[in-house]
Amino acid sequence: MTMHAQTAHRHALDFADAAFAHDVVAGLSGKPKRLSPKYFYDETGSQLFEQITQLPEYYPTRCELSILQRHAADIARLIPADAAMIEFGSGSTRKARMLLEAAPAITAYVPVDISSEMLMQEARELKRDFPRLAVCPVEADFTGPFRLPRAVASRPRLGFFPGSTIGNFEPHDAAAFLRHAASMLGGGSTLIIGIDLVKDAKVLNAAYDDAAGVTARFNLNLLARINRELNASFDLESFSHQAFYNTERRRIEMHLASCKRQRVRVAGRSFDFRAGETIHTENSYKYTRESFGAMARGSGWTPVAAWSDLQGYFSVQALAHQD
Ligand code: TRP
Repeated sequence: MTMHAQTAHRHALDFADAAFAHDVVAGLSGKPKRLSPKYFYDETGSQLFEQITQLPEYYPTRCELSILQRHAADIARLIPADAAMIEFGSGSTRKARMLLEAAPAITAYVPVDISSEMLMQEARELKRDFPRLAVCPVEADFTGPFRLPRAVASRPRLGFFPGSTIGNFEPHDAAAFLRHAASMLGGGSTLIIGIDLVKDAKVLNAAYDDAAGVTARFNLNLLARINRELNASFDLESFSHQAFYNTERRRIEMHLASCKRQRVRVAGRSFDFRAGETIHTENSYKYTRESFGAMARGSGWTPVAAWSDLQGYFSVQALAHQD
């Protein structure tokens, strides 16, 4: 790195720290208190998340993989020749690989992610395993506009948004994301998207509050990160993980509950907690085929196919966007 690049890098970090501090202070000043789930994914958080996907209670990843495995050929039939696949928030490329293997029509792959380390690492491995594929990673927040690489310009486009990540958006933000994806991908494009379905509350509650306590550690790690990066005084022993299905709103809510009355210092300020008061950290919305289809139709997309696992827990849908 040159001196100049180093300075620029340091400034970018300062800027990220300042944004983190600002968001945390604003969130803890709110009523109710909340924190943004985008800060879950530091190194420890990403590792814990990977563990969550392997938990016996956490069915979404297993279900989605089984759907992609079983129906890869059906999905491949919807993909035009010489297509570019754009994956929103790629992380691990495990799911993308299943489509790439089934659909040689995909000749370019554009993983989009804010975390550059994993993005570049995965891109290198993918290039090695698919030597004929043009791999063009984009480091960006996929919820905002970003520049598509040149390799995509002349190709028909396929969007890929697995993992029920859309369920972590508020419904109006989910609809806004679908409109944004439609405008980025353009007329004639297809979007393959993973949706977690409404189901028995017992199954849902277990998936987000596992017996081994991995999801609890994942949630609490947010406080550990704030302690470390923002000089805060959260006592991790006196906050507990809370996750429950809110039937009316069709969402899992994750909270961190204060076990007692206490005061916590963060970035030079103090925040008071009542006993039992919670910080709301994330939602995971569940849809029915119908409720998701209605939202898609209202956001520029037409559902063209949907596949499910044998238990009907999870759904992979193909949506088409005309001009
Ligand atoms: N989008 C997935 C879900 O809602 C994965 C996920 C995001 C998740 N944040 C999480 C899983 C927090 C468990 C806990 O299920």
